[in-house]
Amino acid sequence: MNTLTVHPAKRLLPLLLLAGLGWLPAAGQTSPVPNPQLASRELNARVEALLKKMTLDEKVGQLAQYVVGAGAGPGDSSLSYEEMVAKGLVGSLTGVNDAEAANHYQHIAVEKSRLHIPILFARDVIHGHRTTFPVPLALAASWDPGAAETVARFGATEARADGLAWVFSPMVDIARDPRWGRIVESAGEDPYLGSAMARAWVKGYQQDDLSRPDSVAVSVKHFAAYGAAIAGRDYNAVDMSEITLRQVYLEPYRAAVEAGAATLMSSFNSINGVPGSANPFTLTQVLRKEWGFDGFVVSDWDAVGELRDHSIGADDDTVARKALEAGVDMEMKGSLYGTVIAPQVRAGKIPESVVDEAARRILRVKFALGLFDHPYTAEGPKYEATPERRAAARKVAGETFVLLKNDPVEGVGALLPLPAKAKKVALIGPLADNQREMLGAWAVAGDPKYVITLRQALAERLGDRLLYARGCELLSGEDAKMLRKIDPHDQTDSDARLPIPDDARSIAEAVETAKKADVAILALGEETIWMEGEAASRVHLGFTGAQEQLLEAVVATGKPVILVVLAGRPLELKWAANHVSAILEAWSPGIEAGHAVADAIFGDVNPSGKLPSSFPRAVGQEPLYYAQLPTGRPAHGDLSHVPLNREERFMSRYMDEENSALFPFGWGLSYTRFSYAQPTISRTEVPVQEVLAPGHNPVVTVGVDVRNTGSVAGTEVVQLYIRNTVASVEQPVRELKGFARVTLAPGEQKHVEFPLGFDELNFYNVEVKRTVEPTTYKIWVGGSSLATAETSLQVE
Ligand code: NOJ
Repeated sequence: MNTLTVHPAKRLLPLLLLAGLGWLPAAGQTSPVPNPQLASRELNARVEALLKKMTLDEKVGQLAQYVVGAGAGPGDSSLSYEEMVAKGLVGSLTGVNDAEAANHYQHIAVEKSRLHIPILFARDVIHGHRTTFPVPLALAASWDPGAAETVARFGATEARADGLAWVFSPMVDIARDPRWGRIVESAGEDPYLGSAMARAWVKGYQQDDLSRPDSVAVSVKHFAAYGAAIAGRDYNAVDMSEITLRQVYLEPYRAAVEAGAATLMSSFNSINGVPGSANPFTLTQVLRKEWGFDGFVVSDWDAVGELRDHSIGADDDTVARKALEAGVDMEMKGSLYGTVIAPQVRAGKIPESVVDEAARRILRVKFALGLFDHPYTAEGPKYEATPERRAAARKVAGETFVLLKNDPVEGVGALLPLPAKAKKVALIGPLADNQREMLGAWAVAGDPKYVITLRQALAERLGDRLLYARGCELLSGEDAKMLRKIDPHDQTDSDARLPIPDDARSIAEAVETAKKADVAILALGEETIWMEGEAASRVHLGFTGAQEQLLEAVVATGKPVILVVLAGRPLELKWAANHVSAILEAWSPGIEAGHAVADAIFGDVNPSGKLPSSFPRAVGQEPLYYAQLPTGRPAHGDLSHVPLNREERFMSRYMDEENSALFPFGWGLSYTRFSYAQPTISRTEVPVQEVLAPGHNPVVTVGVDVRNTGSVAGTEVVQLYIRNTVASVEQPVRELKGFARVTLAPGEQKHVEFPLGFDELNFYNVEVKRTVEPTTYKIWVGGSSLATAETSLQVE
């Protein structure tokens, strides 16, 4: 029997680094960990030598990032970007999208500017660059940090070929409210899973060696807690306790910083009343003093200018000064830093040392990236979606699908996987043959022409046994009318882009198509351009447009229905879950969408994804997440029956809906079944001093045997949850503290081990210090957050 021991990488990195430095942190606390890539003596000597030669204007120039091609130019300057670069007044450019354009500006910077300082080119590289992979939320559903690392590797290599050495990725914001459209860019609701993904992204982009020609610097965003915007409305304020901020929301950023992140992006939102882009607590106290971050911070787009709207300063001078002094080193897009910082230094309002420090941080990253030694990009052959890239995109997508439901149908059995010899299949839905939509949100350099749709992929397998009907549009007439109002600039072509559809006719046609087939596959979900990503919050979480009516009409034919959901957020799937026997969540899968979904439908790939976000029954449950804090009146079970008895009446619950998630965090089925034995623990009792001991080694190991009891091979994501049952500050009813992907042949069994120590067991006390107190931890191991196989650990 095989044994798999899970060694969270996060444990190793700080320990190795600290061991190298010959000191260890005080018991229970996090200590700053210098990033060896930015802290080397030689690198800093080069930075200091250069800084000494720079004028104030040249130093301030490094703090400005401008957008080539965008309306907002460099303040009221009458200079072109070329002229500004030649004068050494530009630190970074975005909006430069290929090697030729990058070289154009770089030649000016390196050959014409006085000190020859190269430009750092940046862009949003979110889920692949030219090769579009599944969206980040989907990648989190793989519970495979290696998948994110692969995507980052492809993204980095392709970005570098386009002259970009800096990517605005990864987004590590914890997202617990799917009304927020940017949940698609996140790893979902959980800090443990989110931290594992954050580390993988950083590793994939930076390879622990920024100087490699195919590494790029990350910009971990959006610091901090942007995902907790009140009511899921984008850019809204964030208000939470410092304990929750640290224990939940800051954890993935910390993981990314420990993994060596070179830069961070400050957020649009305020945190407890202080904007993220002028917040000395998050940007200096936590990030620099506690975590030892020595890279630089860039603001989000125009976020410095927006500080006026946050009403923390009435004029440009004040808000720019506040942002810089709080720790925002570079300003993205706006032109305030380029215009109002130098005069304030000259007037004695800002110490020059503040500018020096920001410039120093930025130059460190430029040197670490090797830009001074290799500033130009080889202008190579044009991008192609090669077989190697396609194979990677297909494989990764195959890991992200979550089989939500696969109940047997009377007389047929489970609908999935479909037999290769399936007779007539009706493929229906506005996402069945839509190349653009498969790319998902933030596919900035992705080109729809490379996308294989589900219709194409199924046609390859089924030939004329495949029937097709579009069924309806992704946006209804009402949506189209409203969006035209929101986007008046696009009046001219809005008829073409936002047509008023004749959905009733399309649905009737789809019903006829379904009637001619033996089984219907519905490809439904969410429109991604308006309804997902930035500035795409929703109050309804259903399918967009008339897709729900389409689904109901096809189900009414009585034909067996397989629903493939294509969306970048948890949708409200209650009706579908009650009426459709097979549901596959496929997110936005990228260029190999069709092939990858077909692989899963026909069983060439056995779905192994697990939900990184709870799926609600109704939007009114949001924010819905499994790691709730306890209440004095916990509701047990569903409580869906009436009448309620007295004990059930006055409970923390909604009266008009079942309270549990429709599909909980960690949920996901397979074409096989897995059984869990009783978990074991290496020791049942541990002295608290041992857990708190310096070095934070694991103190116990939890082991479990997992067996594939079905008839096909499959991969299970084995998950470990804990509950700290007694603590001075109340702790969540469950918290993920370990997971492992385990592949098992039919009948095969493996032993999986999870080490537990300070890292997994600690929490923040009322003094906002990490600690462990005497308590009992309940521990569950299983295939979702509903895991029932249980053991416990006593800390005395
Ligand atoms: C604003 C977004 O919030 C951020 O994520 C992105 O990187 C920048 N715009 C640049 O496009």
